[in-house]
Amino acid sequence: MRFDIITVLPGLLESPFAHSILQRAQKKGIAEIHVHNLRDYSTGKHKNVDDYPYGGGSGMVMMIEPFAACIEKLKAERTYDEVVFMTPDGVTLNQGIANHLSTLQNVIILCGHYKGIDQRVRDLYVTRELSIGDYVLSGGELPAAIVVDAVVRLIPGVLSDETSALSDSFQGDLLDAPVYTRPADWNGHRVPDILLSGNTPAIEKWRFEQSMERTKQRRPDLLE
Ligand code: ADE
Repeated sequence: MRFDIITVLPGLLESPFAHSILQRAQKKGIAEIHVHNLRDYSTGKHKNVDDYPYGGGSGMVMMIEPFAACIEKLKAERTYDEVVFMTPDGVTLNQGIANHLSTLQNVIILCGHYKGIDQRVRDLYVTRELSIGDYVLSGGELPAAIVVDAVVRLIPGVLSDETSALSDSFQGDLLDAPVYTRPADWNGHRVPDILLSGNTPAIEKWRFEQSMERTKQRRPDLLE
């Protein structure tokens, strides 16, 4: 799977993709992540990518030309399944959307800044608008990194134990059961006996009950 991320702050996206599972996925050739500096597509003397809003008001608006130039260049090179725009007024990302995106080949992600981007970019190019939650960040870069992380770890072959993505919280509409590791007794705080019993069916039953209880307590909406 290939991601092309268009941003004015490419440096902000260096670290998230250079570690752990995302780094491994790229090394294995399962995921390609290309970050494009929007300023490289500006024809302005000062490489500007934003301008004052028509009709007045505060804040700057990102212009259509640099986005159009970058997207058109990419589209001339390959076919894209989706052009995603990260925005707080988009649909909130969830596991189902991540699952869907993980089945695609080529995805462009646009990161906004300032007051927003010219509506014509959204009307003409964007196929999906995603938010990562009901709060406003200073730009779409961190949200884009979150989308890429949530999606890439689902691609077969990325996680060494493929079943571990399937047992994640949310994957089956239930939150995860609590987990423990050694020592079995830490200052009198003991690991539940059942987990030390070696009785696999009983452990599975306990985990399911714990998942149900946690989901009922914390996210009853998931059970509806
Ligand atoms: N850009 C700024 N805030 C955002 C959010 N919550 N989700 C996605 N993109 C954003």
